[in-house]
Amino acid sequence: MIVLAEQKKASVRVAFIGKKEAENLTYVSADYQAVSRVGGLDENLTVYIGQGKEPLTIRNIQELSAGAAGAVKGMGIKAYEMDIRPFLEAAGVRAVSAVIEGIYTGAYEICLPGEEPKEIPDVTLTGIDENLYPAAQGELKQGISLAEAQSWARNMVNAPGNLFHPMDFAREIMEHMKETSVECELIVYSKLNAMGMEALTSVGKSSENPPCMLVMRYRGDEEAPVTGLVGKGVTCDTGGYCLKPAGSMMGIKGDMAGGAAVAAAIYALAANQVKVNVTGVIPMCENRISPSALVPGDVIGSYGGKKIEICNTDAEGRLILADAMAYMVKDEHADRVIDIATLTGAVVGMLGFSTAGLLSDDDAFCGAFLKAAQTSGERCWRLPIFEEQKQMIESKIADIKNMGRDYCGTITAGLFIQAFAQGRPWIHLDIAGTAWTDNPLYQGQPQGATAAGTSSLYYLLAGGEETCF
Ligand code: BES
Ligand code: ZN
Ligand code: ZN
Repeated sequence: MIVLAEQKKASVRVAFIGKKEAENLTYVSADYQAVSRVGGLDENLTVYIGQGKEPLTIRNIQELSAGAAGAVKGMGIKAYEMDIRPFLEAAGVRAVSAVIEGIYTGAYEICLPGEEPKEIPDVTLTGIDENLYPAAQGELKQGISLAEAQSWARNMVNAPGNLFHPMDFAREIMEHMKETSVECELIVYSKLNAMGMEALTSVGKSSENPPCMLVMRYRGDEEAPVTGLVGKGVTCDTGGYCLKPAGSMMGIKGDMAGGAAVAAAIYALAANQVKVNVTGVIPMCENRISPSALVPGDVIGSYGGKKIEICNTDAEGRLILADAMAYMVKDEHADRVIDIATLTGAVVGMLGFSTAGLLSDDDAFCGAFLKAAQTSGERCWRLPIFEEQKQMIESKIADIKNMGRDYCGTITAGLFIQAFAQGRPWIHLDIAGTAWTDNPLYQGQPQGATAAGTSSLYYLLAGGEETCF
């Protein structure tokens, strides 16, 4: 449990230290994320974490707190006090939720489906001035529900593909949403077939584990417009007949990270009773090889009515997102839409593992999202859209094809999905590089799922005036 307190409670203290203060202490380093212990367990122990030279940003605060929580956990300490005064001075009261996010990240341990939830350390946050208290309490509540949502998203993305089939994914979310006012509707395979969701079912029928689609509706304000969030939910992506090489197969269970981020963001919004309306849609399926699986050259229909030429069976994400997007606009009447997906290897080549790729056809909507991303500390970068890139996915035998040429693959993938958004203001987030980490980017970041996108989506919708669009 994490609480705020005016004075010292635990015998172990974590303090963040700048260059000036470190000069007065022997054997204490102010280097970024350096860990120095002063004192012992029987007497009062202080764990100093170096702040480094750069000015503190939200991202640094998250990283420093994650590094601290990880280091202290490594020392076997379960309860401690953390002095966050320097963070409050640098970033105001928002620092409280950034610290909480960091502590949850640094203390995170994988919890497999069916396992008991892992314990969160007992942390008392100190160094908060009295006048900041009411606001800090609000941030504490918000930070805890967002951090819990992120841990939940991580657990789902880390779940092994053989233990977490499409219907398991749907059931897990429906079970979790029972704690909230979110209404869930599960569209099962037979219904998807009856509705003509051919792009989703054509991918999903490659497996004996049937596809499905989960709809989540959160209504926090009767008057407000509806924002639609569509997240890719491929629980296992082998590539299909365009089989992935063995070396590229490690991340295949994490191909539902976009869907997990959508569910987690909606969970956090509902837990905080934010006054917005959001509908989430997650198309869920596996992409495998079977006699009925797609092969290149096939032409299929789709819920949006467009005929699609299949050029590569590994470009399955955009197919299932196309049907979910068409459904989001036609049936859920979303006023503006965001899709989020681990969609292309190309985005990793372009922006690496720290930055998501973003496409949008609406400057105001995009601007609001970029602001929210700044609040969340997540990095993303807007890519251009030009006419010639749209031409790259024109098909000679169908209305559109599911792959362009070998270049600008992130842009053509996004444009494919845009073609099904029916003119609604649209944002596309490609988190293929950021959703998963094999080599942690900073101390305290656990290997595996990162919950990428969750907090940016949350802050976009919870941002009030700031991110009003
Ligand atoms: N899920 C993958 C994208 C991916 C790649 C995610 C690496 C995480 C790490 C997606 O379904 C895919 O395979 N995309 C193809 C598209 C191509 C065939 C047009 C890709 O990027 O190679
Ligand atoms: Zn694929
Ligand atoms: Zn995929």
